[in-house]
Amino acid sequence: MSLLGIENLARPEIEAILNRAKDFQNSTAKLDTLRNRLLVNLFFENSTRTRTSFEIAAKRLGADTISITASASSTSKGESLVDTLNTLGAMRPHAIVMRHAASGAPHFLARYLPTPIINAGDGTHEHPTQALLDARTILDNRPSLEGLRVAIIGDIAHSRVARSNVHLLSKFGANVVLCGPAPLLPPQLAKLAPDVSLTYDIREAIQDADVIMMLRVQLERQHETPFPPGDYFKFYGLRPDHLLLAKPDVIVMHPGPINRGREISSEVADSKRSVILNQVENGIAVRMAVLERVMGA
Ligand code: CP
Repeated sequence: MSLLGIENLARPEIEAILNRAKDFQNSTAKLDTLRNRLLVNLFFENSTRTRTSFEIAAKRLGADTISITASASSTSKGESLVDTLNTLGAMRPHAIVMRHAASGAPHFLARYLPTPIINAGDGTHEHPTQALLDARTILDNRPSLEGLRVAIIGDIAHSRVARSNVHLLSKFGANVVLCGPAPLLPPQLAKLAPDVSLTYDIREAIQDADVIMMLRVQLERQHETPFPPGDYFKFYGLRPDHLLLAKPDVIVMHPGPINRGREISSEVADSKRSVILNQVENGIAVRMAVLERVMGA
């Protein structure tokens, strides 16, 4: 079964993945759950965390892995995406992890291929395993997602991380506040899910927050003239004084890659409130749980 997004994933399935991921935390043991199974990692966009952690997760479960990047694939010689995926499908992998700049690309291919596809980020649409690892990280710091105030701040318009998180957090009764400059925060995003509100004021977003989730400004997806980094940081960068507005035990998250001095100060990124590296660590545990579910016998 493919994993394409959070929007259509039922709450019990999410809970099962998050609970299973807990079993894989704090261990580097090599298991043989997926022995003799093959995972193909196919990345048409750059990645450090997602690609590496899928590969480590697969290896820890005993699977064989192959990683292919866009520049090394025959799409650079004019082969269509469907032909590339059909070619890889003919090599009989047990799953394909795919990142693509086009929103909906993995959903389109999942309709044509018998091989399960795991969405590792499609355009501005969804990044389901990021939202799952974010939920695992929040739950390591809070007993439940219900009733939490989660401020997601930055380039919301272009963020698949924001969309997947909004879907997941709303399913579990969290109150999500989306915050960013007007060109990066279209009003229709309030309709993504119930209990989502919008503000252009970072201080209002952070007030009484349990969780602050900062986002990277996705210059590669912006067609507008970008804000100069200094101006952006002045109005939407997270600084230590902002944390005083939040709950005393607020946690600060960022999916990475972080741009220090643009969306977050080094003082905050490296502070005790930051769980950014815990997110990275949980990426392996959550992806092990996902691979076991998608590729397991
Ligand atoms: N969070 C995330 O998707 O990071 P990468 O682009 O490095 O995979």
